[in-house]
Amino acid sequence: MTRKLFVTTALPYANGAFHIGHIMEYIQADIWVRHQRLHGHQVHFVGADDAHGAPIMIAAEKAGVTPQEFVARIAAGRKQYLDGFHVAFDNWHSTDGPENHQLAQDVYRALKKNGLIFTREIEQFFDPVKNMFLPDRYIKGECPKCSAKDQYGDSCEVCGAVYAPTELKNPYSTLTGATPVMKKSEHHFFQLSSPRCVEFLKSWTQDGRLQPEVANKVREWFATDEDGQGGLGDWDISRDAPYFGIEIPDAPGKYFYVWLDAPIGYLASLKNWFDKGGPRQKYGEARSFEEFMASPEVEQYHFIGKDITYFHTLFWPAMLHFSGRKVPDNVFVHGFITVSGEKMSKSRGTGIDPLRYLSLGMNPEWLRYYIAAKLNSHVEDVDFNPEDFVARVNSDLVGKYVNIASRCASFVHKYFEGALANPIDADKFRKLIPVAAVQGREQAIADAIDKREYNRAVREIMAAADEINQYFDTAKPWELAKDPSQRVANSELHEVLTGCLEGFKYLTLFLAPILPDLTARAFRFLGFDAPLSWEQRATCVKTIGVYEHLMTRVDAKMLDALFEPPAAVAAPAPAPKAAAAAPAAEAAEAAAPAADAPTPGGEAIAPTIGIEDFTKIDLRIARIVNAEHVEGAAKLLRLTLDVGEGRHRNVFSGIKSAYDPEQLVGKLTVMVANLAPRKMKFGISEGMVLAASHADEKANPGIYVLEPFPGAQPGMRVR
Ligand code: MSP
Ligand code: ZN
Repeated sequence: MTRKLFVTTALPYANGAFHIGHIMEYIQADIWVRHQRLHGHQVHFVGADDAHGAPIMIAAEKAGVTPQEFVARIAAGRKQYLDGFHVAFDNWHSTDGPENHQLAQDVYRALKKNGLIFTREIEQFFDPVKNMFLPDRYIKGECPKCSAKDQYGDSCEVCGAVYAPTELKNPYSTLTGATPVMKKSEHHFFQLSSPRCVEFLKSWTQDGRLQPEVANKVREWFATDEDGQGGLGDWDISRDAPYFGIEIPDAPGKYFYVWLDAPIGYLASLKNWFDKGGPRQKYGEARSFEEFMASPEVEQYHFIGKDITYFHTLFWPAMLHFSGRKVPDNVFVHGFITVSGEKMSKSRGTGIDPLRYLSLGMNPEWLRYYIAAKLNSHVEDVDFNPEDFVARVNSDLVGKYVNIASRCASFVHKYFEGALANPIDADKFRKLIPVAAVQGREQAIADAIDKREYNRAVREIMAAADEINQYFDTAKPWELAKDPSQRVANSELHEVLTGCLEGFKYLTLFLAPILPDLTARAFRFLGFDAPLSWEQRATCVKTIGVYEHLMTRVDAKMLDALFEPPAAVAAPAPAPKAAAAAPAAEAAEAAAPAADAPTPGGEAIAPTIGIEDFTKIDLRIARIVNAEHVEGAAKLLRLTLDVGEGRHRNVFSGIKSAYDPEQLVGKLTVMVANLAPRKMKFGISEGMVLAASHADEKANPGIYVLEPFPGAQPGMRVR
């Protein structure tokens, strides 16, 4: 039976470009969608920008544009990522589109009619300068426990205490610096705690559809203690103006909290796709959006990351169910991508930049393959490890899969004019090792992808490729070919090659959802006008085309470029040749020093800056608490630094040639404390230690780490 599937990924906030975590989610969903289509199912795969909320409103204000304009700019940048990584959404829309305004208000009205909306006055911090209620993240102050300054409204980064924003000492608004005042406001709530909601959610989340670990997590959220405390709380779904969002009907000045209208954006994007006629053109779907969504046979799935599970397993199904709509069939939760074992974070600007990846000429399908090889159906983090990436792609994709085509092609062209043995007796054909290797695994591979056990599917595919390669090695076509009687149609040689290429055809089919571009080219090489569907898989290869490189190997150097090279020691500019004349002091003052001015330390003094430029750089005294060698790093030492922040910093420094780690431990030095953290091959570097060196390090070797006069304490600013 043809399945009718409605599939989404989470809707990314429209306040920034995609990062590698987004791309991972899209690749996961895209593989699943392509797999379903390969098997003849109809899929409507949609996404959208999550446009609303205070952060976007504030970011737009800072940029001096309207929120709509701000979001439109972000949206305009999406295509190059999606096309670049072969992520084929049918439609991309925005939660600020008219469909979403309409649908969100419809859902709200239905919930209200159903008696699940109530209002209550709450008291909240208000910024009297900006005239707006402050979300917790815009309030800072001193920790109520340890008095550390500049702590966020929910928890202290120094002592780890958790508290409410109202408990902060000397709170201030991070928007204006003003002292916030408490102010009352009427808020709208969704009564999630009502027995009928709880009952519905207990059944929806615990009936076996969710991943086991997700169902367990949700059970914790239901749990109440002996006094009946805890459990599901009612959900505050309104925000006061000014807010970039959707107005609540009959409640002037009130807007839906962004998380109410965001998932409704899934429906809005699908509706937009239907209204544009997409489903009719693609599948002859005659129904309207409303009819389609009212149809019980339609299945609805959302791919999301673990951080937004609560919204998707509680709020979202409840909103849909109690507004009389179809509920999701499932929510597929994935873990986070880490880079060399470390968390990447938007705010710290670490991680792999997807556009940088593409602009380096790295093949997007390498990443698709690598991610597939690591993903399973559980909520586990996926680590991007550069060495592992190179090894996997080169040994599996190029060394095993592509290798089969390239080693068979020349023989087939040389002795058989590109034609394969045909027909082979059906019984004999099935028994050919390469054919048995793929046919014996096809069901397991298809099941694994359907269950999102991509790593298992990839393992099976590569095991089949191994068998085919071994068969080729054992059959030794190069030996067979020495015998002229083998150079005729349907000889043993011809059958060996035919078997291997038939096996290759199946591998191509299995890999098609993961590697749409490579496999499309492979199918053309196999003489097919269009990629085969699952149903057509038995169609034999008849004549092959000329073999052209299907995929190149990853050059490990590309990964070094992907993680910008360490800049622990300020990179010296190439040194102009030293000459005599004018004293150094004069050269330093001159706007453009003469070409023959002396070059202290081998390089001209940099262009003049104002004091305001200098004060942007926050230099601090740091104690080197630990120093150690970094395995595999030729120039770097790993330093653990204490800058008096109540935590330690990890800094990689290119000083290995000059110091033994033991010499450094316990010493004070100077570091740039506000340098953006930088992801390096070996981990994240959270700053830079100052050291002196000559511009021409070859001629004048030596690196000298700065050390302050006695008395300086960690954390003191250098100015
Ligand atoms: N706007 C909300 C989602 C609304 S859905 C109705 C949001 N946006 S997000 O941009 O922060 O995240 C979008 C998706 O990316 C989420 O599923 C999130 O879990 C996922 N990821 C964010 N960082 C990630 C990684 N490091 N790794 C993998 N996925 C990650 O949340
Ligand atoms: Zn504290």
